[in-house]
Amino acid sequence: MSTPLITISRVSELREQLAELRSQGKTLALVPTMGNLHQGHLRLVEEARRHADIVIASIFVNPLQFGPGEDFERYPRTLEQDQQLLQSVGCDLLFTPDVGEVYPEGQEQITRVVVPVVSEGLCGQKRPGHFDGVATVVTKLFNFVQPDIACFGQKDYQQLAVINKLVKDLSFPIRIIGVPTCRTSEGLALSSRNAYLTPEQLKKAPSLYATLQATGLKLAAGNSHFIELCHFARARLAEQGFAPDYVEIRSLDLSPPGIKADSWVILVAARLGKARLIDNLVVHRDKH
Ligand code: PAF
Repeated sequence: MSTPLITISRVSELREQLAELRSQGKTLALVPTMGNLHQGHLRLVEEARRHADIVIASIFVNPLQFGPGEDFERYPRTLEQDQQLLQSVGCDLLFTPDVGEVYPEGQEQITRVVVPVVSEGLCGQKRPGHFDGVATVVTKLFNFVQPDIACFGQKDYQQLAVINKLVKDLSFPIRIIGVPTCRTSEGLALSSRNAYLTPEQLKKAPSLYATLQATGLKLAAGNSHFIELCHFARARLAEQGFAPDYVEIRSLDLSPPGIKADSWVILVAARLGKARLIDNLVVHRDKH
């Protein structure tokens, strides 16, 4: 029988509990989330478990990372179900602050953390201010929890790059662990936003990953006409009913892709009905 999950919503109480655990010599891992948890999040918790004595998950739908007209209001909130799932994978503590607890002075005038270059382009271009909101809340969560490690999903490739740079540039003594994407048996990357898909769209959605794989095969085989490859992927997605936001091939550090490189990442964001889905695939050149 695992110990019951403790849920805390006040920063002061969280700090007290964690100070006590730290004084006992326990190491802490943080798994930041926005809730509506799925297997992908649970894998983050399981990975966190492997690296630290105590796992803290946070659930906070962060208004600062949503643009006007985005899905902040309708983002699925499923606290009870999330608590049960976290308990089932042995998470020790859940932090569920409300907006006033995280932004007591309001959101308008708050100091923002801006991570240059990696935040620009891709989702940063389509969602202006999004990564400033992510970097700001993650910085606050790091300061609340002061974890030894923190786990993030590789599905959000650009977000992970932003957080890695943030930790390096602001000298946080935190090890960031990127955890591989969890997929359905058909290849659809698990995401809370899959909840917006109709049953019909859910059948189509795996072709996002299939398109990444088809493009990746050409890239791995030596086709380095990056623009043509992205056109190919966009056209394929459009045929299947997606409205692509972007398809881009980049170096693994998100800088422009090199023809002579041995590895790249293909990144995609596309709308299907009410959902905006993102995914990516790391590709290595075939060795002959
Ligand atoms: O990936 C997410 O769920 C969010 O962007 C994060 C990292 C929890 C920050 O709000």
